[in-house]
Amino acid sequence: MTLENIKLDIDYVRSQFPAFRDPLSKDWSFFENAGGSYVPKNVIDKLTYFMTSTKVQPYAEYPMSKIAGENMDRATELFAQMINAKKNEILIGGSTSINLYVLSNALKKFINHDDEVIVTNQDHEANISPWRRLSEIGAKIIEWKFDLNSHELKLSDLESLITNKTKILAVTHCSNIVGSVNNLKKISELAHKNNIIVIGDGVSYAPHGFPDVKELDVDFYTFSLYKTYGPHLALLYGKEEILRDLPNQNHEFLNGKYPYTINPGGPNHEELSSLVGIYEYFNDLYNHHFKDNNLSIQNKISKINALIAQHEENLANPILSKISCMDDLNLIGRNKIVNKNRAPTISFFSKSKTSKEISNFFLKNKVATRNDNFYAWRCLKDLGLSTSDGVVRLSIVHYNNNQDTELVLSTLDKLNNL
Ligand SMILES: Cc1ncc(COP(=O)(O)O)c(C=O)c1O
Repeated sequence: MTLENIKLDIDYVRSQFPAFRDPLSKDWSFFENAGGSYVPKNVIDKLTYFMTSTKVQPYAEYPMSKIAGENMDRATELFAQMINAKKNEILIGGSTSINLYVLSNALKKFINHDDEVIVTNQDHEANISPWRRLSEIGAKIIEWKFDLNSHELKLSDLESLITNKTKILAVTHCSNIVGSVNNLKKISELAHKNNIIVIGDGVSYAPHGFPDVKELDVDFYTFSLYKTYGPHLALLYGKEEILRDLPNQNHEFLNGKYPYTINPGGPNHEELSSLVGIYEYFNDLYNHHFKDNNLSIQNKISKINALIAQHEENLANPILSKISCMDDLNLIGRNKIVNKNRAPTISFFSKSKTSKEISNFFLKNKVATRNDNFYAWRCLKDLGLSTSDGVVRLSIVHYNNNQDTELVLSTLDKLNNL
């Protein structure tokens, strides 16, 4: 069998997520995945095991403690392999926002007065404000603005912003509003020619397939594990050669123990250990669809990514097409996914109704969604939209199914009667 004729077994996928059988959630079509995803039962089991059997201080020699520490270490090791990094290049923190603040504080070391830092107006604020605050130590902040017709960031615009003073570029891999996938590999290539450190925000990208960070060649990359089927934590990857040079922001005696020293404290232990469940879920998914067991973890992930991308494209394209054809609705970003050039994160607004009215109508029809600025308020402001009413966002991940898409399409049909 070739990859072309293997399809994601959606019934198998959904059987792994208890939320689809839970009385509170089972009757809803869930389209708020870009806010936070459901978790598979492996994650819940790992969390329960930690709390039941190993809820003690880890890394001592008695069994409960030893196993706690082993499971925590295993989580970082597996995630490193899933994204093609080394174990000491992974830092797990409370959220992407926290991780990026901590990182920006550490990177101050490389910033001199009048150095330039490039941020975008397409990013979530988490990857803007920590970098904008570098102005407090004299950095000049330069904004890479998206094109107002396509809503996309153009590489040629970036090229014209780079000078010999540019030190840092913070850019999203995929906007949580526009959905377009930015070519981080090309962006990194251009930045590195100019000795610029690249920070990629993968929060809206990673739920649709874990990236290969070496292939992207970013210096730092971050995503929120609570949106990639896990508990409320976030991962920060950093190239070892840079991490090694960052100041110790933890206790003085820990000097040299990077990346542990980047964060002033450690992550939530039980949640960290439960990340092993995300790996197990993806490994089960691989074994369910493919036979070859000699592949590396990262290669298995890449095959699963292809299945997921195809499935998500099939679900999202009819919705994108419908919204873009409706007179009263304005779709943000591309109206079709081709070769994963766009995430199935679909934002739109109405010419005649508020986003709140539209999202309430979806709720009435059992489509779980919401209206908001989703903390991408600069993006909304520059699109000329209200940052309080915001946009309606329907975000899909691989456990959504055809019935979900049908329900959205029929709800859109009924919108005119609202
Ligand atoms: C694209 C993007 N970046 C960053 C964040 C911030 O993530 P966290 O909630 O983990 O701080 C979000 C959260 O929604 C996001 O969508």
